[in-house]
Amino acid sequence: MNDFKLKTELFFGSRALERLEQMPYRDIFIITDGFLESSGMVAKMAQHLPAGARYQTYSNVKPDPSQELVDEGVAAVEAARPDMVIAFGGGSCIDAAKAVLYTCCGRGMAKPYFLAIPTTAGTGSEVTNFAVITRGENKVVLIDDLLAPDGALLEADFTRSVPARITADTGMDVLTHAIEAYVSQDATAFTDAMAVKAVRTVLSDLPAVYRDGMSMRSRARMIEASCIAGVAFTNAGLGVNHSLAHALGGRFHVAHGRLNAVLLPYVMAFHMADRKYREPYERLAGELGMAGADELLHAVLDLRQTLDIEHSLSGIERIDALEFERAISDMAEAAMHDRCTPPNVRPVSKQDLVNLYRDAFRGLSF
Ligand SMILES: NC(=O)c1ccc[n+]([C@@H]2O[C@H](COP(=O)([O-])OP(=O)(O)OC[C@H]3O[C@@H](n4cnc5c(N)ncnc54)[C@H](O)[C@@H]3O)[C@@H](O)[C@H]2O)c1
Ligand SMILES: [Fe+2]
Repeated sequence: MNDFKLKTELFFGSRALERLEQMPYRDIFIITDGFLESSGMVAKMAQHLPAGARYQTYSNVKPDPSQELVDEGVAAVEAARPDMVIAFGGGSCIDAAKAVLYTCCGRGMAKPYFLAIPTTAGTGSEVTNFAVITRGENKVVLIDDLLAPDGALLEADFTRSVPARITADTGMDVLTHAIEAYVSQDATAFTDAMAVKAVRTVLSDLPAVYRDGMSMRSRARMIEASCIAGVAFTNAGLGVNHSLAHALGGRFHVAHGRLNAVLLPYVMAFHMADRKYREPYERLAGELGMAGADELLHAVLDLRQTLDIEHSLSGIERIDALEFERAISDMAEAAMHDRCTPPNVRPVSKQDLVNLYRDAFRGLSF
């Protein structure tokens, strides 16, 4: 039996912010980060809160939110008892808000309406039942339908200020979500349709927004693609590309999208080396009008180059060779147990994951 769920209502298009103005909530709690608060973006968004609403802000979120940060947020939300929580920011703010609300409601607080407003076009977290929280050196993936926001508001203008490097990282996260969802063992005709749409958009619009951050048509298409890929993977699951990226990110603190981007061709090539697991890549390439899976792999490699993304993990400054070698077994073990691994298109052993880390560290020519 398959199913396809979307619990989150979506507000998008030119008048999306008007929906926020019309909402019936009056005690609003905003979870965001320091940059978005100090740059005035929170205040800009807050101009669209319903008339007469009071709001307070928790702006301590840091990239790859930690359990300690979540605990701090829980105390703040429990003290405030809002009727609406708005997560305003990238995946880190949305995931932090998800974990905070999950904990508060688990401890008996009445559930407020939960609205996510992404300011990066990347994680799709505004529609997923996933949250990624860092505990010590591990990024732990929580999956529960209760984590999914009630509403998601897509406004490309909030992504206008994303610098080129973060545009590239987050855009490659969208591509990785879409490809992993498409080839996943749990993919369906419904998730495939969404994944194809997202891949097509990233290939056509990500180079444009990387070159010119003011290219608002492409920004609008990217924030939709990010959300569409989120709907695909919350239903189809992901795969080992994400598992490997989580274990690396927990230890070396490199942006999630960048790690996915560096790993992606190695993971694709590993799957495509076996005819059985190559098949969904052939189908995806066909749906994109490409001659075959190799053309798709080269399109990914070309896109990475256009976005100035490193070809190997050794090219990333924060990843020290000695520390990497020392950590590789623990990281592969963590990736084996990551909740993204079970739906991976190809069954994997720990040794497969060690080999993938080594290939991606050295850098192969394709
Ligand atoms: N829940 C999910 O479904 C899911 C899926 C993929 C990834 N993730 C997680 O999401 C996190 C990554 O999220 P992300 O890639 O969106 O990055 P992020 O939220 O960590 O933000 C990265 C940086 O971009 C800045 N930023 C955000 N919006 C901006 C804007 N409009 N202008 C300028 N700067 C801006 C932030 O201040 C931050 O410094 C990781 O922890 C990852 O594991 C979650
Ligand atoms: Fe991701």
